[in-house]
Amino acid sequence: MSGDEHDGEPAASPTPFERLGGESGVRALVDRFYDLMDLEPRFAELRAVHPTTLDGARDKLHWFLCGWLGGPNHYIDRFGHPMLRARHLPYPIRSVERDQWMGCMLQAMQDEGVEPALMQRLAEALYGTADWMRNKPG
Ligand code: HEM
Repeated sequence: MSGDEHDGEPAASPTPFERLGGESGVRALVDRFYDLMDLEPRFAELRAVHPTTLDGARDKLHWFLCGWLGGPNHYIDRFGHPMLRARHLPYPIRSVERDQWMGCMLQAMQDEGVEPALMQRLAEALYGTADWMRNKPG
């Protein structure tokens, strides 16, 4: 007996998307991320490369992360391949912006009560992406 309720089917391990609470959990994380970016002076350089309104960024990061975390591919359905590095080229991103992006995301995950093991795994993967987005020396 595996303890599984479905005849012989192994229980699929939950995706990070499911562990974060699905669409509403990911949305809450993204909203916290941009609220912090807007409010916290320690993220000022990061805030400065963003447009006046963060509404479009909130929707796009939410759609992107849903798919990236193993949930529905809302971003790709709307915009095609993410090509994140190319899409970030209009914005000057140095180490300071990368580090503030990571700091802001870590704080948002902490505030949303993301399990520490999941947070560590996501932080490592996100750091790789954020580092790859750098497009300006410094
Ligand atoms: C490294 C520091 C980063 C900076 C400074 C940065 C900055 C920005 C800015 C200014 C925008 C445009 C927002 C708008 O159009 O309103 C944007 C868009 C976006 N960012 Fe980032 N970002 C960073 C890292 C990341 C990372 C690590 C991810 C993914 C995990 C990400 C995912 C996205 C997505 C999906 C969009 C929407 C792209 C589009 O369709 O135009 N960004 N980012």
